[in-house]
Amino acid sequence: MSEISATTAAMKTNNNKEKQIGIGIIGYSIGKAHANAWTSLSRYYYPSKLKPKLVAISGRIKDKVELEAKKFEIEKTYSEWEKLVNDEEVTVVDNCAPPSIHAEPMIMAAKLGKNLVCEKPLARNAKEAKAMLEAAEKAGVKHLTGYNYRFLPAVNLVREMIQDGTLGEIYYFKTAYLNVNEGYDDPNFPFGWHHDPNVAGYGALSDLGTHALDLARFLVGEITSVSAASATFIKERPLEEGSTKKGTVGVDDVTISCLKFKNGALGILEAGWVMAGRTDFLRFEVYGSKGTVRYNLERINELDIYFSSDPKRTSGFRNVLVVNKAHPFLKNFWWNQGGGFGWEHTFVNELNHFVNCLAEDMPISPQGATFYDGYRNCLIMDAIMESAKSERWTNIPSS
Ligand SMILES: NC(=O)c1ccc[n+]([C@@H]2O[C@H](COP(=O)([O-])OP(=O)(O)OC[C@H]3O[C@@H](n4cnc5c(N)ncnc54)[C@H](O)[C@@H]3O)[C@@H](O)[C@H]2O)c1
Repeated sequence: MSEISATTAAMKTNNNKEKQIGIGIIGYSIGKAHANAWTSLSRYYYPSKLKPKLVAISGRIKDKVELEAKKFEIEKTYSEWEKLVNDEEVTVVDNCAPPSIHAEPMIMAAKLGKNLVCEKPLARNAKEAKAMLEAAEKAGVKHLTGYNYRFLPAVNLVREMIQDGTLGEIYYFKTAYLNVNEGYDDPNFPFGWHHDPNVAGYGALSDLGTHALDLARFLVGEITSVSAASATFIKERPLEEGSTKKGTVGVDDVTISCLKFKNGALGILEAGWVMAGRTDFLRFEVYGSKGTVRYNLERINELDIYFSSDPKRTSGFRNVLVVNKAHPFLKNFWWNQGGGFGWEHTFVNELNHFVNCLAEDMPISPQGATFYDGYRNCLIMDAIMESAKSERWTNIPSS
């Protein structure tokens, strides 16, 4: 299955408002990063091919929704996502709610012919993700899964170096996403939706590991089988801060997996959210027949690059700052190379790509992740958890 060409609902419904698309955001937490990107992308990439207009935002807590609406000058607020999805001015539904609230709104929005942006992980499991993909494809709308790290200049430079053969044959991809999620290493950190499998799907794997798996697919290619181990170390947490009532953690704190790629490369994935000292350690190392590249999101614009062909006397890793106009995405940014690319700009690039694809009726993939990529990612995560249980290698279904 692949992304199909879509006629855009945006074009159809905005005939009177030239070149505007109406955006509705479900959820105001990571939704803030999206709102910031929708409202600023035309300043980075001027002129924008279509101008996003934030029409509505929804969330469960009225005061908080209203505050975000005020900050981003959004006229309409809803506490029920159904109202936002059905709002006629909304032609792109941007889902920034927890995973249990991904499938239903996205499928309803697809049926109404709206274009779809959905945060990662696409769903709690592959079955749910497949239903979302099928609904989007049937409706012929554009669909994007929020793997924003595909839009980092440094990551794209590595992709170029793999695709143009600079690194040679890829032997090994070692990746990790480790942090403490603002305090998960503390057993007194309260229970939240991330700890509930009915809401989140998996734990560190689907919160963090999913990003690393997406980069594995984006950079090296399809993963065919996995062999994993997974553990929950903090088995219960207070239901609220200071409370003696406890909730049972039903998801993984740490998951690790060996990976086999279709092209013969091998890989290792580590995902963990109780890793003291780690802030946002999304790390990968790509080892090829002609050299090696290392990346760490905590040093967002840096790559360590080693070329095997360098003279032995002076060979070693060189640190490359990926900040100049020759680097991916940066040519059209309005600032100069001293400006520095930040985390929030991954969303600017991602949603700008989505807008361009709508305007030109171009495919979201391969630069952006579609619902197909979100579905494949869920298949891999399901296989990882199955392997962790069975303690055997598990194959990933090819479709
Ligand atoms: N791409 C990234 O870097 C990134 C970063 C953080 C979170 N995320 C993803 O974004 C999603 C949301 O995560 P978060 O950290 O913002 O969660 P959060 O709990 O902080 O916020 C969730 C939001 O969804 C709203 N919501 C929850 N249930 C709802 C319902 N039934 N109807 C309407 N609104 C509802 C809440 O009111 C809140 O605004 C998750 O899928 C998460 O994995 C992605």
